[in-house]
Amino acid sequence: MGLARLLPRSNLRAHPRGARLPTVIAFANQKGGVAKTTTTLNLAVAFAEQGLKVLAVDLDPQGNLTMSQGLNPDTIERSMFDVLVHRLPIQEIVHKAEVDLAVSSIDLAGAELALSSLIGRERALEKALLPVKPEYDYVLIDTPPSLGLLTINALVASNSVIVPVQCEYLSLRGLVQLENTLSMIRENLNPHVAIGGILPTMYDTRTLHSREAIEILEENFGDLVFKTRIRKTVRYAEAPVKGSSIIKYDPTGPAAEAYRSLAKEVLDGAQAREHA
Ligand SMILES: Nc1ncnc2c1ncn2[C@@H]1O[C@H](COP(=O)(O)OP(=O)(O)O)[C@@H](O)[C@H]1O
Ligand SMILES: [Mg+2]
Repeated sequence: MGLARLLPRSNLRAHPRGARLPTVIAFANQKGGVAKTTTTLNLAVAFAEQGLKVLAVDLDPQGNLTMSQGLNPDTIERSMFDVLVHRLPIQEIVHKAEVDLAVSSIDLAGAELALSSLIGRERALEKALLPVKPEYDYVLIDTPPSLGLLTINALVASNSVIVPVQCEYLSLRGLVQLENTLSMIRENLNPHVAIGGILPTMYDTRTLHSREAIEILEENFGDLVFKTRIRKTVRYAEAPVKGSSIIKYDPTGPAAEAYRSLAKEVLDGAQAREHA
């Protein structure tokens, strides 16, 4: 960002795609079931619809993102584990799905322990992404429901974090914890990472509780809360079973539209920053 400001703007634009580095976004919230994985996949696919080149990274040992593209994490032999721990080039574990997908496997559960004794343990993902970055416009990283070493690797490698929060069980305490982790990372490991936005998910217009949750979020986080709300619908549970994004499963439905609208908000925000 700092360097970009020093260059004449025309110079930046003259570069073909690829000469500029992609935006790396982590999806994080230490609470499970808030739609991190659903959002990673569907935002990735919504970007791809716009002609953007996207790499999705499954950094959760549960492998839900991998599964949601019809792959089986139990039978995958080489995964992000090998990339992080044995420095296998990430290209070798990228599967071509709706978007390019760096897969997880059950081994990844052992990565935190295996990494913990290595020098540079917080930067393993950042390093692994370096050689493939020029190929992509966006890298989206799905993280496990914890603030352990895998999530820290994602935050260190990212420019921004999108935080999905479930309107039903809003945990402000959880958000404060995540903010504390982020400021620790900014101080010690990656000064550039910031919250890109808070995304209300599982929004149910019929309940007062959902509307109150949004009010509380906006009171506490203001403009950081996306205007897009992801409504609660069973479609989200159906799509992954078919090994597809909601956008492919029901392309004209409201759920697909919601993620397209989120994609637009993220892209507009990125443009606004570029022209600032
Ligand atoms: N907007 C939504 N409405 C209803 N169910 C949803 C919605 N988004 C996700 N889900 C479902 O909720 C469960 C948890 O979502 P998931 O994306 O796996 O969350 P996380 O990755 O944060 O644990 C999944 O079964 C998913 O299909
Ligand atoms: Mg998940």
